[in-house]
Amino acid sequence: MSSTVEVIPTGAALGADVAGFDINAMNEADFAVIRAAWMEHLVLRVRGQDFDDAAQLAFGRGFGPLELSPRALLTGKGWYPDMPEMSRISNIIDKDGKKTGSLGHGDAYWHSDMNYLEEPPMGSMLHAIQATTRGGGETRFCNMYMALETLPSDLRRAIEGKTLKHEKVHSSDGTIWPGLKDPGTDDVRRIPGPIHPMIMTHPETGREVLYLGRRINGYIMGLPVEESNELLDRIWDHATQEEFVWEQSWQTGDMIVWDNRTVMHARNGFGQDDERLMHRLVLKGTQPFYAPLAA
Ligand code: OGA
Ligand code: MN
Repeated sequence: MSSTVEVIPTGAALGADVAGFDINAMNEADFAVIRAAWMEHLVLRVRGQDFDDAAQLAFGRGFGPLELSPRALLTGKGWYPDMPEMSRISNIIDKDGKKTGSLGHGDAYWHSDMNYLEEPPMGSMLHAIQATTRGGGETRFCNMYMALETLPSDLRRAIEGKTLKHEKVHSSDGTIWPGLKDPGTDDVRRIPGPIHPMIMTHPETGREVLYLGRRINGYIMGLPVEESNELLDRIWDHATQEEFVWEQSWQTGDMIVWDNRTVMHARNGFGQDDERLMHRLVLKGTQPFYAPLAA
């Protein structure tokens, strides 16, 4: 079977549109082209197609098994009783003044999703059910292959073979996840969390990639705290430079799927008088590892 999928790169550091297929009637050949494009461009956008949650779930499962939403994982109760994998990302407040989704309307700082897991997600998908109407709410992505390739050699040497502790409690809007407690200490050496290699091997492409997770309470294992913080600040500044970034300006109906191992993302804030609603799925991943090629 041949595929009609077209891949249109953004021309920036990452990202491509995929078009020329019907998301409600996917075939295997289409999926193979989409998967290869995903590995090459890291972030794909589906624009101008009309589809529901069932189609989003089916599209996600085409990439691999789905993770539970953070809320379902942490509290046992997700946003949608019949879809424990689906997150609601929204600033909309209901008539009783209750939040109807995560992340609110403020900025969300740079991160990769659910880096607090031993097996962080392979990827994530956001479907814009309702985009902002007055601007703001753009999502930015940065290319972590490029960040590593261009890392100054002294920084590269400083992190070669090192591992990073990622903390568990903060969401990317700076708040503490429901069901979790403040770590109760500033000493990053004592804050619990999974330990992942800073340079990891991509399990599918075999390429090496920089893996930072999120800055808050990160700690490079074994280093004096001050040294770890200085190094992390320099590496984060390098990784999030404009030349590695592509920005998605949402239209209602857009869906983006990103490789959570090779990109970080951040979100611009928007007015609370505007309304934004995204349906998010997360694709299950595997434990990060580093297997340097023999010299
Ligand atoms: C997320 C996230 C950003 C956005 O859902 O993981 O970071 O643009 N969202 O809503
Ligand atoms: Mn995120």
